[in-house]
Amino acid sequence: MIKLLSLFSGIGAFEKALNNIGVDYELVNYCEIDKQASKAYSLIHNVDESKNLKDVTKIDTSKLPKDIDLITYGFPCQDISIAGKQNGFEDNEGNRTRSGLFFEALRVIEDTKPKIAIAENVKALTSKRFTKEFNTVLKSLDEAGYNCYWKVLNAKNYGIPQNRDRVFIVSVRKDIDNFEFHFPQSIELKLRLKDLLESDVDEKYYLSDKLEICVLGNAVNKQLKDMYKRENAYLNKDISYTINTKSQRRVGDTNYIVDGIENEIQVKDFIKIKEATKKGYAEAHAGDYVNIQYPNSKTRRGRVGNGIANTLLTSKENGVVVDNPLRLRNLTEKECFRLMGFDDSDCDILKDNGISMTQIYKQAGNSIVVDVLEALFKELFNAIYIGESEVS
Ligand SMILES: C[S@@+](CC[C@H](N)C(=O)[O-])C[C@H]1O[C@@H](n2cnc3c(N)ncnc32)[C@H](O)[C@@H]1O
Repeated sequence: MIKLLSLFSGIGAFEKALNNIGVDYELVNYCEIDKQASKAYSLIHNVDESKNLKDVTKIDTSKLPKDIDLITYGFPCQDISIAGKQNGFEDNEGNRTRSGLFFEALRVIEDTKPKIAIAENVKALTSKRFTKEFNTVLKSLDEAGYNCYWKVLNAKNYGIPQNRDRVFIVSVRKDIDNFEFHFPQSIELKLRLKDLLESDVDEKYYLSDKLEICVLGNAVNKQLKDMYKRENAYLNKDISYTINTKSQRRVGDTNYIVDGIENEIQVKDFIKIKEATKKGYAEAHAGDYVNIQYPNSKTRRGRVGNGIANTLLTSKENGVVVDNPLRLRNLTEKECFRLMGFDDSDCDILKDNGISMTQIYKQAGNSIVVDVLEALFKELFNAIYIGESEVS
């Protein structure tokens, strides 16, 4: 049984991974400031919320045990991630940012001296822009008595069809570091995004006409208009079985082109997604991921993931193209959970207990792909024997 202290717990991806690989752990405490995330954590892991230390800055480390085996801390990434303000650990006035909460995790590590500490954050932490911050992280952990091993791992190399790069920093207390930790080898990706899609999805997840047309872009609008003009004629002549359903008309119409030969219609099997490229759009086929954030943006590119999801965002801006008929819709909460390596039952229990759709999307997008952590833990526990851990 290993003793675990979980910081910035979210929905507990580290805990889920330990469970999945059969490592018993005793949870000393978890620590999560967000009430909804805390509730979600307690539901998924069947832990009483009284175990939550809440604000990491308020942790009184003298009350924590001195024999902790593992501290996990996926500290906030908002000030480092490309999508954020990129202030690093301090803002312009020298105040600590949310990502600066790293120093709180460091304080807990320094005071409790666990055998192992594992951090996770966005890949950008290892970029040139954040050299200062990343060096600070590594240097301060070294000074606290830890050897650090770090690597950027992508979820798509560990069995999950999501292109999600994250840096993992495994810190091993120097007095027990008699092995050299190696990060897990990549494995072949067998699953595709389409394999993780639900079969029966409520209409509310499908994009509204207005948004759809924005995503599809102006070039397509003309085509769409032309299509409407000719539609009756085609329908009357009964040339297309696909054009006469309501859903097809709303969305699928944009995927037809009239090829100039009268009375003939050519069906295309992709949707055009507006992008800031020379071509002006990217083709999204059934089973492709589409980032539908800022549909009108003229600067976005790389919106489409071919057969695998882009890094999941924290709200319902993760789209997917589905077949029969070809349409664009949001990924459901459950699909997002699957893409993070969680079980359907984890998502169900949150829904059943009144956690909103918005919160579930946020919690999934903030989490860590469980399969990556499973692979990492297997390497770790095969190399080192802590707290009588055994990997099954
Ligand atoms: C990147 S997420 C970590 C998610 C987690 N690794 C998981 O498996 O779901 C960072 C978390 O830190 C929490 N957080 C932010 N400030 C905090 C604070 N002062 N004390 C405790 N938790 C905090 C956020 O609410 C968020 O859930």
